[in-house]
Amino acid sequence: APTEEEIREIVAGFAALEGPLLPMLHALQDAYGHVPSAAIPVLADVLNLGRAEVHGVISFYHDFRDHPAGRHVLKICRAEACQSMGANALAEETLKKLGIGWHDTTPDGRVTVEPVYCLGLCACAPAAMLDDRLVGRLDDARMDRLLEEARP
Ligand code: FES
Repeated sequence: APTEEEIREIVAGFAALEGPLLPMLHALQDAYGHVPSAAIPVLADVLNLGRAEVHGVISFYHDFRDHPAGRHVLKICRAEACQSMGANALAEETLKKLGIGWHDTTPDGRVTVEPVYCLGLCACAPAAMLDDRLVGRLDDARMDRLLEEARP
């Protein structure tokens, strides 16, 4: 588990910035894949904020995870162009198949599903991203194949 010392070291470089909280949170998420709960008291202390405030910011920005993601992260686009091409139904069906909700991870730790708002693939909507790979023109069958690739 991340130690307080480690966390302090990671965030120290951003202390002089104006509005340092978001860069600090990004740095922590880059380092750990999520923002560890141990970071909350440290950030509160370093930035002279309440713990509830820090926690509020983490939960406001959906980019930040408060626990580790699965081995694969599937981001399904929910922005307008994709919505108009059936992204909502696709997402619902996908979540149902996996038995989880948005931001959740399958119980076997295999995949986390997150919404994303435009992947720049609007011309090939509906679009998603599995780990670092962009995929367009998705339908239920292609999504199944994509999820097959997200094994183990
Ligand atoms: Fe989905 Fe742009 S709206 S990729």
